[in-house]
Amino acid sequence: MSDPTEISEPVVSAAVEAALAAIAAANDSAALKTVRTEHTGEASPLARLNALMRSVPGNQKAAAGKLLGQARGAVAQAFSARETAITEAEATAQLAAETVDVTAAASTWKAGARHPLTLLQERVADVFVGMGWEVAEGPELESEWFNFDALNFDEDHPARAMQDTFFIDPPDAHLVLRTHTSPVQLRALLSRELPVYVVAPGRVFRTDELDATHTPVFHQIEGIAIDKGLTMAHLRGTLDHFVKAMFGPEAKVRLRPNYFPFTEPSAELDLWHPTFKDGARWIEWGGCGMVNANVLRSAGIDPEVYSGFAFGVGVERALMFRNDVKDMHDMVEGDVRFSQQYGMTV
Ligand code: PHE
Repeated sequence: MSDPTEISEPVVSAAVEAALAAIAAANDSAALKTVRTEHTGEASPLARLNALMRSVPGNQKAAAGKLLGQARGAVAQAFSARETAITEAEATAQLAAETVDVTAAASTWKAGARHPLTLLQERVADVFVGMGWEVAEGPELESEWFNFDALNFDEDHPARAMQDTFFIDPPDAHLVLRTHTSPVQLRALLSRELPVYVVAPGRVFRTDELDATHTPVFHQIEGIAIDKGLTMAHLRGTLDHFVKAMFGPEAKVRLRPNYFPFTEPSAELDLWHPTFKDGARWIEWGGCGMVNANVLRSAGIDPEVYSGFAFGVGVERALMFRNDVKDMHDMVEGDVRFSQQYGMTV
């Protein structure tokens, strides 16, 4: 609008019309703020018309004042009505946007669970710690010497092939993924003062295909005791206590003659329990025997003075018959719902 020169009805009406149209067109508080500056502020047409009041002749002042006053009143009223409406609409929209849907499914992090194989190994270790034994570990990538030679396997002994070993390149490094936890027997003897009572849980590897009852990676628990005067009776008594602590007072073990290069005599270790899910029966669980004199000599121990026993059992097998797990796949797939059944959510 160009500078007004007089306060006349058409000029004032035009200013009011423009202001009302702008107020009606404003849809939010930001637009309304601009309207306020343009149509009611100091530089607005109505304010500039008001400034002309000074030059209005005295006898016309009352009429001009009334005209302007009514115009400014009408604009102010329209403005405040629009302001109230916009404020309310914006508050309602904000409340709607911030509404909490208490029926919506919460997206929290899923809790993990400790694997039952880990729990079982810790339980076994606890039983032996309770008898004063130590827990030891050995490397999974093992030298062929510890895995076979030092355990009295001949260079071309069939047992070496029998174990279906993962050999590691290059062949002349003579490294294998350990096929059993028995190499920890010798490591325990080399790193400790006698007597030695050690239990060694751990992962072992054989070139089996994964199926319901086999997996190329599985777990064993090895035990070895070397002291003066140990006999098969001590082995038997230890195993009896072990299975009763693990499976209840009615559990018992049976030893059947067998052959292992690193024990002599050697025995197959069977476990019996009346409440196994498939009914009371003997289950083949591992091997055991008196530590072979050659193994003692490999560790620099005089077999005339010291003797001892060793045993090894499968952890997966224990979980299968103890908890009625039918398929090895369940143990290796890592589905947390499987582990959660064992009640150890972390
Ligand atoms: N290491 C043997 C195996 O894996 C089990 C065993 C351990 C046998 C200790 C005797 C003594 O089959």
